[in-house]
Amino acid sequence: MRVAIGSDHGGFMLKQEIKKFLEQEKVAYHDYGTLSQESCDYPDIALAVAEAVTGRDCTCGILICGTGIGVSIVANKVPGIRAALCHDTFSARMARAHNNANVLAFGERVIGSGLATEIVRVWLDSEFAGGRHGRRVDKIGAVERRFGRTGE
Ligand code: RB5
Repeated sequence: MRVAIGSDHGGFMLKQEIKKFLEQEKVAYHDYGTLSQESCDYPDIALAVAEAVTGRDCTCGILICGTGIGVSIVANKVPGIRAALCHDTFSARMARAHNNANVLAFGERVIGSGLATEIVRVWLDSEFAGGRHGRRVDKIGAVERRFGRTGE
């Protein structure tokens, strides 16, 4: 497993905490920026992480901004990305089990590092349930194709 991680300035400090956690857990990652707390544009970072996942450079992605909303909106524009905005562990588990989310998003201005770390742990440890959920996830791909976009 290799995680693509990225944040804008609003999520930079929390990203540093999450990277520490990934290192402790011996989970490989690549940081797609930003590299400081200087103001930047979240769409640039979200696109880089999303493309790393769809291009198979990384298995999955973690995106952080102030609220998590901007990065999740952008990531979900990329065909094949299913980004889940999660601020609790139940949502994180379900995002994987029912939606097979390949990107996790949250906001540094919404939750603390303790909860964010648990959300990451649960999301990484959870598995897609398949079955009827597979049919539904396939229909997400069908929506993309209907609008001329092709994902995985
Ligand atoms: C940056 O100020 C903030 O707008 C951004 O981090 C994010 O919350 C956008 O959705």
